[in-house]
Amino acid sequence: MKIVLIGYMGSGKSVIGKAISDKLKYLFKDLDSEIEKNEKKNIAAIFSEKGEIYFRKQENAVLRSLLSKKDNMVVATGGGTPCYGTIMEYLTETENVVTVYLKASLVTLTERLFSEKEKRPLISHLDTKESLQDFIRKHLFERSYIYNQADIIVSVDEKKVDEIVEELVLKLF
Ligand code: S3P
Repeated sequence: MKIVLIGYMGSGKSVIGKAISDKLKYLFKDLDSEIEKNEKKNIAAIFSEKGEIYFRKQENAVLRSLLSKKDNMVVATGGGTPCYGTIMEYLTETENVVTVYLKASLVTLTERLFSEKEKRPLISHLDTKESLQDFIRKHLFERSYIYNQADIIVSVDEKKVDEIVEELVLKLF
C-alpha cells in the first residue's frame, strides 16, 4: 500500500509521515527532499533559479516515479502537489494508493508557518503575521476543494504526533 499525505504547508506531513512509516515499517519518502536530492538544490533555489513551473513538473514526475515502485510506502507531498495538473485524479484512481488529508486550521497554520516561512518561497516575503494569515486564508480556500477529495481526513489541531498516528492507523486498517 502507498499512503500519500496531502495538506497545506505546515500541516505536519513530513513529521506525521515519518512517524507512521516507522510504526508500519513502511518506506518513507518526502517529496520535497527527493526533488532537492535530484536537483542538488534546496526548494527556494529551485524556485528562484528555475521557476515554479519547472518545480511543479518535477513534483509530478518524482511522485509518479515513487508510486510506481512495489514497496509499501508513506509519501509526504508538498502543499501544492495535488493541486496541479491531474495529480489528485491520478492519486484517487491509482490502485493501492490511499490519500490522507492532514487538516489544520488557519490559526494553527499561521502560528506554525510564521516561524518557518524562510524556506518556503511562496510565503517567505510575507513580513507580518496578519499578511501571512490573509495569504493562507485565501490560498487554503482555493486548495481545500482538492484536499477534501482525500480518502481519509484527519484533523491535526492541538493533537500530538502519536495521537494523530493512532487515529490514522485506525482509519486505515
Ligand atoms: C509548496 C509547499 C512546500 C514546497 C514548496 C511549495 C506549496 O512543501 O513543496 O515550497 O505550493 O504549498 P511543504 O508543504 O512541505 O511546505
